[in-house]
Amino acid sequence: EDSLREELGNLHGIPLYRTFIEGWPQVKAFQARTDDLLIITYPKSGTTWVSEILDMIYQDGDVEKCQRDAIFNRVPFLEMNDPGVPRGVDLLEKTPSPRLVKTHLPVQLLPTSFWDKDCKIIYVARNPKDVVISYYYFYQMDKTHPDPGTLGEFLEAFMAGKVAYGSWYDHVQGWWEKKRKKQLLYLFYEDMKKDPRREIQKILLFLGKELAEETVTKILHHTSFQEMKKNPAANYETMPTALMDHSISPFLRKGICGDWKNHFTVAQNERFNQHYKKRMVGSDLQFQMEA
Ligand code: A3P
Repeated sequence: EDSLREELGNLHGIPLYRTFIEGWPQVKAFQARTDDLLIITYPKSGTTWVSEILDMIYQDGDVEKCQRDAIFNRVPFLEMNDPGVPRGVDLLEKTPSPRLVKTHLPVQLLPTSFWDKDCKIIYVARNPKDVVISYYYFYQMDKTHPDPGTLGEFLEAFMAGKVAYGSWYDHVQGWWEKKRKKQLLYLFYEDMKKDPRREIQKILLFLGKELAEETVTKILHHTSFQEMKKNPAANYETMPTALMDHSISPFLRKGICGDWKNHFTVAQNERFNQHYKKRMVGSDLQFQMEA
C-alpha cells in the first residue's frame, strides 16, 4: 500500500520527490508560450482554488466547460512526474493556448523560457501555520510523500525547510522580491477567504479581462469550498487511490483560516512564532495568521 513512499531527493538544494527530479531535464528545457499564465504557490496555499477560478474566468463562467476534465488536467502541473498518471510537460504540450500552468517551483528554479517569454504570473501565499497543518494531512493522504511522523516532528522539518519544495520562507520571500521587477500578481489565501469577489476583480484587472457582474457571482459560487468539495472535477477524487487516499484525509479538507489553533500546542506555537520572527525579519511581507 505504502510502496510509493520514499525519502525525498534533492534538486539544486530543494528537497523534492525523486520521480520529479528524474523528470527535471524535460522541465528545465520546457518551452513556454507568450500567452501562458503561471499559477505559482508553495504547496497547500490555495493552488487548486485559484486554478479553478482561473479556468472559470478563461471559460467565461461556463460551469459545464469547467467540468470537461479534472483540475489537474485542465491546469497541468509542470513538474508533475508520478507513476501511472500523465507527466506535466506532456499534458502541457497537448494543451491548446492560452494555457494555465501550475507549478510549486521556487523562484530560482523556474525554467528560463517563462522569463524569456515574459509570461504573466499569479502567486498565491498562505500563512505558514495553516500551510504546515494542511501539508501534514496532505503528507498522510498523498502516498508519494515520506512518512510525516508526529505533528511535532513535521513542524520541525517544515521550519528547517526539510519538506517537499523546501523552505516556505524562501519560497514566499523569493517570489515577493520578484514582484518588484516583474509584472506579478501576488495574492493571499486569507484575502481570498475574506473577500473573494475583490480578489477575483484583482485577477481580472491583471488579466485585462472584463466579465459581467453575474458571471463573477457564478464564479464565486462555483469556486466556493462547498461547491468544489463535491465537484469531482475539482476535488481530486479521480486521482488513482494508489497515489491519493481521501479516506485518510480529503484533498479539500477544511478550507478555513486558523485551523492551526486546533493542532498546535502552546509550546509549539511559541517556538514557531520565534522562528517566524527570525526568518521574516527585514521583510515587508506580512501574513494574517487567523480570520
Ligand atoms: P486545508 O487542508 O487547510 O483544508 P492546494 O490546492 O495548494 O494544495 O491547497 C489545498 C488547501 O486549499 C486545502 O486546505 C484545501 O481545503 C484548500 N482549498 C481548496 N479549495 C478551496 C476553496 N474553494 N476555498 C477555500 N479553501 C480551499
